[in-house]
Amino acid sequence: MQDRVLLDTNIVLDYLLCRKEINPFWEKLPLYLIQHKIEFCLAAHQIATIEYVFIREAKRLGLWEKPQARLLWSLFLSKATIVKTPATFDRNHRLSQRDIEDYQIQLAAESAGCRIITRDNEFSALSDRCFPPQAYLSIAMESQATLVPFLDLKTPHTVLRSQLEAAFDRTLNSGWFVLGKEVEAFEHEFAAYCKAEHCVGVGSGLEALHLILRAYGIGPGDEVIVPANTYIATWLAISYTGAKPVPVEPEERTYNLNPKLIEAAITPQTKAIIPVHLYGLAADMDPINAIAARNGLKVIEDAAQAHGARYQGRRVGGLGDAAGFSFYPGKNLGALGDGGAVVTNDGELAEIVRWLRNYGSRVKYHNEVKGFNSRLDELQAALLRVKLRHLDKWNARRQQLADVYLAQLADANLSLPFVPDRAVPVWHVFAVRHPQRDTLQHCLQQAGIGTMIHYPIPPHLQPAYAELAFGVGAFPVTEAIHREILSLPISPHLSREQQARVIHTLRNGSRA
Ligand SMILES: Cc1ncc(COP(=O)(O)O)c(C=O)c1O
Repeated sequence: MQDRVLLDTNIVLDYLLCRKEINPFWEKLPLYLIQHKIEFCLAAHQIATIEYVFIREAKRLGLWEKPQARLLWSLFLSKATIVKTPATFDRNHRLSQRDIEDYQIQLAAESAGCRIITRDNEFSALSDRCFPPQAYLSIAMESQATLVPFLDLKTPHTVLRSQLEAAFDRTLNSGWFVLGKEVEAFEHEFAAYCKAEHCVGVGSGLEALHLILRAYGIGPGDEVIVPANTYIATWLAISYTGAKPVPVEPEERTYNLNPKLIEAAITPQTKAIIPVHLYGLAADMDPINAIAARNGLKVIEDAAQAHGARYQGRRVGGLGDAAGFSFYPGKNLGALGDGGAVVTNDGELAEIVRWLRNYGSRVKYHNEVKGFNSRLDELQAALLRVKLRHLDKWNARRQQLADVYLAQLADANLSLPFVPDRAVPVWHVFAVRHPQRDTLQHCLQQAGIGTMIHYPIPPHLQPAYAELAFGVGAFPVTEAIHREILSLPISPHLSREQQARVIHTLRNGSRA
């Protein structure tokens, strides 16, 4: 989807009153916006003005008696997004001095992140957000033809704008910003979503894993088994405690921790296993839990990429002893900043994590252990509550997009993701493999298609882990994945046309 636009009052009146003589784009512009699903906005304060002038002028022109005139305005309003007119007011602003309404339109457009379409030249001269209809149409047509972003973080928030703003206003009005009713409500709702008993909101996904490990008493001298091919945060959580990450290779086809290789990595120091539900596909938890039970180890799910993913019909988060989730904005359930959660059926663990996230304190200013400041804040919790209600729908859309990729790339020269019967993924990442990955990525980039590499360098080859002294070749399966993997766009708001463009370019590019 393209940028959203805010329509100046004159543009709307041109359309409603068919003012062909003064605006040759009177009809073309609104039709273009509707046809291309470009969100168009009106600031709240404009509605009364538009309605007043429209009725007055329609009566003067003898149009008001026609039922179509009223219908047109109702229809127009039903298609528009109404955005707020901010209460900010600066009498000395140059726009405010020239025309109060333009100034308010400018503020509304700034707040909603919109361009303004206007045919008021003086307004345009004072604002770099303003575009005359013709100039806007040519920019829009050009960008329509090019970009497929890897990740679209604007559209989901635009679609939910009014609900997110209501959550923001509720938090603002509550005057309570840390550890209050919103966090508590989100914790209940997210625990219920995961079908687990407890959820504790924390500062990030990394912190969620770190606090679980701490709460289980893992520290210096201990070892924790971790996939060799994960985002470095999984390893860092272990290192934060002073324990040592012990990497194990993944399965070739699922990219998830290979249960067959775990037992060989267990030593008397091993305390836990962290399977990562990488790319949104649940790791093979039954054999992992069985190994852990035989060896007296904790199983900590890294569910940062897998909100809502299922394993044997059950949602991740309640499959091991505890799970860490991330709400980093790009995740399937993302906040508008950092956030994370510990989810568990272990009541004692949940209780300890509650102290640890809050300076080690159960009662204010009474500190039982040396804790941390790692809390999900009220505002993020309020926003996450809104987004949680849409998670399943958006995961289902990712599934549809994945199905199309899987069907239409089946005979392309690429390795496609493999989904075992035991799992229903949520497609946080749709990763393909190709021996000439960099060339393929370049070819997609030339066609205006964004891709990412998850991840270019495995943790054991990062300078941050030089102390573990793993050289190149230590984890060949992992290293091959990192050389060949490429993630395609799979945001829930990717359009059919955009996806068709990715597929077409990939089919051609992967032949090489
Ligand atoms: C697999 C994995 N684990 C942990 C994390 C850490 O989450 P956060 O960024 O919220 O700290 C991430 C985030 O990207 C992740 O992908």
